[in-house]
Amino acid sequence: MILERCSVQSLPKITDPRGNLTFIEGGQEVPFEIRRVYYLYDVPGGSERGGHGHKKLHQLIIAVSGSFDIHLDDGHSKKTLHMNRANLGLYICPMIWRDIDNFSSGAVCMVLASERYDELDYYRNYDQFVADAKKDVL
Ligand code: TYD
Repeated sequence: MILERCSVQSLPKITDPRGNLTFIEGGQEVPFEIRRVYYLYDVPGGSERGGHGHKKLHQLIIAVSGSFDIHLDDGHSKKTLHMNRANLGLYICPMIWRDIDNFSSGAVCMVLASERYDELDYYRNYDQFVADAKKDVL
């Protein structure tokens, strides 16, 4: 199952009484070359983000502040993860539909991505995503 390739990874954490520090180095903590970083912030309570899949994009999602839920779906099975640690990253491989909700106040969702932004890489239609996901498995 494609979904099994998506997992939460521990990132390095330097604990310090002055405040903790986590770092991410290309080729070390992330199983792809990082070509883009973006983040969601100032998310109003009750908002939902995501609501799409990607054809080729690899991503690592980190709750650098606060918390949120990520619902993953490979067209066959689903799982939900609660992200609430700045030193944990959720790796999401291609062909996964994701919905993100339950953002806490002040949550920041940082995403490391393997490619620059390309709308053509998106599935915005769930039925189309499921149809293609089923084809991939055959
Ligand atoms: P989208 O990926 O749908 O956001 P989310 O998954 O967080 O709900 O993107 C929302 C809008 O932002 C859309 O118009 C495309 C634009 N956008 C960029 O221009 N560059 C980017 O790197 C990203 C992620 C989005």
